[in-house]
Amino acid sequence: MANANLSKAKKAKNDEFYTQYADIEKEMNAYLEYNPDVFRGKTILLPCDDPEFSNFTKYFAQNFSNFGIKKLISTSYAPDSKQLDAYYEPSLFEVESPQFDESKSFVKGKIFVLDRDSNGDGRIDVDDLEWQYLEGDGDFRSEEVKALRDEADMIITNPPFSLFREFLAWLSATESNCKISKSFAIIGSKNAITYKEVFPLIRENKLWTGATNFNTDMLFIAPKGTNLDEKPSTAIREVEGVTYLRSPAIWFTNLEHGRRHQPLSLMTMEDNIKFNKKVIKSETAYKQYDNYDAIEVPFTDAIPSDYKGVMGVPISFLDKYCPEQFEILGATQRGCHDKVPDTKKYDDYWEVRQNGEKTGSSGGKTNENANLATNDGRKNYFINKDNHIIQSAYQRLFIKFK
Ligand SMILES: C[S@@+](CC[C@H](N)C(=O)[O-])C[C@H]1O[C@@H](n2cnc3c(N)ncnc32)[C@H](O)[C@@H]1O
Repeated sequence: MANANLSKAKKAKNDEFYTQYADIEKEMNAYLEYNPDVFRGKTILLPCDDPEFSNFTKYFAQNFSNFGIKKLISTSYAPDSKQLDAYYEPSLFEVESPQFDESKSFVKGKIFVLDRDSNGDGRIDVDDLEWQYLEGDGDFRSEEVKALRDEADMIITNPPFSLFREFLAWLSATESNCKISKSFAIIGSKNAITYKEVFPLIRENKLWTGATNFNTDMLFIAPKGTNLDEKPSTAIREVEGVTYLRSPAIWFTNLEHGRRHQPLSLMTMEDNIKFNKKVIKSETAYKQYDNYDAIEVPFTDAIPSDYKGVMGVPISFLDKYCPEQFEILGATQRGCHDKVPDTKKYDDYWEVRQNGEKTGSSGGKTNENANLATNDGRKNYFINKDNHIIQSAYQRLFIKFK
């Protein structure tokens, strides 16, 4: 139990990192390019934020008039509820505000609102943000933040990664007519793509990945006092005195952007086999799976333009997914491939290391993976009493041309 609590606390520490202005700007620009009025007349909620120093609040407050935003609401989580490494000190901004209250500073969340020219200088911007303490600690699951969610048209943030599933459920609670009724753009781990709470939304085109290319990791600003010794050096980058933490994060959204409507330009299967170096080297490209009525396509750029059936492609395909070109039918993880059912189970197989030793695991563990009748000489394989050998490919999405 103590261990479970420790690992929970460790995970929550990873929730404390902050998004760079340029990353927000880049993604929002793609939505604006597609629809210059995307934010016009909208009430935008930025939950799980830290409005005093958040780049989300800064970006939307600075562009409030420019974008024609109706109301901006930003909420923060109480310092005592966060998992902070360093001692927390209220900001000068808070302490110097007339509403500063020492008894609330550590235990209450805050709400910042921008909807009028509060200082009467003739324009609405960052300096017009008005704030107060929330009744509670600002947990997005609290009734008071839920009421703000219900008021908002759009929800934009980088929510705590450890609560990503819960955050999405919180967003989906506003679902009507099989659609998340709020517009949203949120940052989450790339791994979230295959969560059973996320993938069905992707398949149904209710949620897609953002415009920022996900080939490279995102860098987040590390909070003061972060214990860098706990992190591998590859996860840290220092630039001009600021410490950044690297994370395989991407945007998840239901806002339109142009990138998702650019079809991939592809070669026929015959040309791929002749000219695509990766296909030439591959031992598995275009093989039929042993347990799915589909072929293995190990690289997105090797999708054969003339193949009419179902194809298993890497998860990174999503970065190139154009819904006018392809239909997503399923994924290999459990409960996500009802349209492409697996045709075989492996409970009577056993797992073997390349040196011939049995691992002791049953073949049941590879049920529903995309399995190929092959032995690459590197990975463990599964075999049955008839000497039929299979190995599983990585996690795959099942797609076909429209
Ligand atoms: C990944 S950080 C992002 C902060 C900010 N949105 C940004 O991108 O710069 C997530 C934030 O959510 C806060 N948080 C953690 N658990 C929360 C909860 N249950 N409700 C609301 N906020 C929470 C964390 O304290 C942290 O400030």
